[in-house]
Amino acid sequence: MEKIICINNDKGVKIYLSNIGAGVVDITLPINGKDQSILLHPKNDKEYFYSNQYFGKCCGRTAGRITGSKFVLNNHEYHIENDLPYDALHGGKDNISFKCFVIEEQSEKKVRLSYLSKDGESGYPGNLKIVITYSIDEDNKLHIHHDYVSDKDTLCNITSHMYFNLNGDQRNNILNEKVYMNSKYYGRLNADNVAISLEQVNESFDFNKPMRIKEHIFDEEVQNNLGYNHPFVINHDGDYDAFLEDDSSNIRIEFKSTYDAIQLFTCNYPDSTLLNNGKTLEKYDAICMEFQHFPNGINSNFIFNKKDIALKNKMYHEEIEMKFIF
Ligand code: GLA
Repeated sequence: MEKIICINNDKGVKIYLSNIGAGVVDITLPINGKDQSILLHPKNDKEYFYSNQYFGKCCGRTAGRITGSKFVLNNHEYHIENDLPYDALHGGKDNISFKCFVIEEQSEKKVRLSYLSKDGESGYPGNLKIVITYSIDEDNKLHIHHDYVSDKDTLCNITSHMYFNLNGDQRNNILNEKVYMNSKYYGRLNADNVAISLEQVNESFDFNKPMRIKEHIFDEEVQNNLGYNHPFVINHDGDYDAFLEDDSSNIRIEFKSTYDAIQLFTCNYPDSTLLNNGKTLEKYDAICMEFQHFPNGINSNFIFNKKDIALKNKMYHEEIEMKFIF
């Protein structure tokens, strides 16, 4: 059964969670005496639970695209049920974002959800146990933990896919929002949004100095993919890995993670679903900063450390932290 759960801290930050896909439905900050949403999501819960825009969901088993919907592991070729014409996106047709997670623990400030993805599900080997934990602290930090273990060598790359819009008036798009990412390399994409090489960041992709999305989103290389939809390699040598900021509302989120990549997606595909801002989704209405292992690492000849492989019986633990400043 579909459920929405709310956790909150004493400062009034509220996180609304769903057991379907262990998703974040909404985050609200107490501003001027009211709860200000910072995420876009379908107005109607039923549409939230099963939307293939993945609003706030945990995506997997493999976030991003797996080229040709296949991969070779231990000399065996595996085929994933594709949800795109050729590639498998976010784990393929029957991926974990549509699955009902078990609520293992629930308190005012913490929720733990789990899902057992059976050997062969969607074409992946191994019984894979996935545990997603959300907790909120009094420094206004949301902690997201992804834990997983499989009984066979397999692939696992989970991401949290929230559609941020920090504007205050969420009918406005995100072109004015500023992004910082501590990243020197990004994945150059082919027409199917798959990274085909690692390149040093050039003007259009250099977020080491905070940059408004509108500054370079209309550059040719970005527009070849309709907007940003690119993986960036994170340099973990700062106080945080990235931030997103809106100077009209003065809301800022600082992100820190153990993952080695961020998929920056500027919401390039309109959608006819009615959202919480009273509109349907238009291009550039939200920004997703999806922390994950570098997508499609298994099939990439330029990624040497294949962190998307999960070895048999090894427990993996990844963290994403978001500090809300307002
Ligand atoms: C990811 C992908 C995008 C898009 C969204 C879901 O961010 O990279 O191309 O498919 O998920 O709409």
